Amino acid sequence: MMDWLSEFWGYAEAQVEGATLRDTSTLAQLHGASFHRGWDEEEFEDMLSQRNTLVHRLRVGRKIVGFVASRMAADEAEILSIALASSHRGRGLSRDLLLTHLGHLAGRGIVKVFLEVEENNQAALRLYTWAGFVVVGRRERYYRQPDGEQLNALLMRRDLS
Ligand SMILES: CC(C)(COP(=O)(O)OP(=O)(O)OC[C@H]1O[C@@H](n2cnc3c(N)ncnc32)[C@H](O)[C@@H]1OP(=O)(O)O)[C@@H](O)C(=O)NCCC(=O)NCCS
Repeated sequence: MMDWLSEFWGYAEAQVEGATLRDTSTLAQLHGASFHRGWDEEEFEDMLSQRNTLVHRLRVGRKIVGFVASRMAADEAEILSIALASSHRGRGLSRDLLLTHLGHLAGRGIVKVFLEVEENNQAALRLYTWAGFVVVGRRERYYRQPDGEQLNALLMRRDLS
């Protein structure tokens, strides 16, 4: 009851937790609502079953409102995706999600983390820059929009130590 009330009034505490196979449908919904090429439940199921991927979820009250997923290889990792439900964006909630995730990557022996981000995605760029990522490359016309428009990607890197 208290969970529901605090969620209703918007002051439920956000928790970052490891995602499980029971989250696949929620994660697919969150991904599909954020990206035009959404990942389906099967893709999340595959990811969550693999030892080289790490997925965290962001829970507010009883609701899962975001996730971040990475793939690891040797001592490097790539952040594959991060997304929050639109209802929970703009409150800084992704910071804790990303930092906790980076902490777990460091705990697995990862020393370099890479990601790609569309160069006009200001919210994501500000988040990554805040978290210590720096631009190390640019990929021309890397993303294709449903209308055919091609957008550039920035390659970012953060060292964990
Ligand atoms: C990227 C994302 C995870 C950020 O999560 P969030 O919790 O809403 O981020 P924050 O509230 O911490 O905002 C991040 C910064 O961007 C700014 N910002 C937010 N929306 C913005 C917008 N539309 N234009 C410009 N800046 C914006 C915020 O003011 C904040 O800046 P600050 O740190 O200087 O205060 C979220 O916007 C999202 O899910 N986007 C859709 C999926 C996506 O694009 N993922 C990234 C793929 S690489």
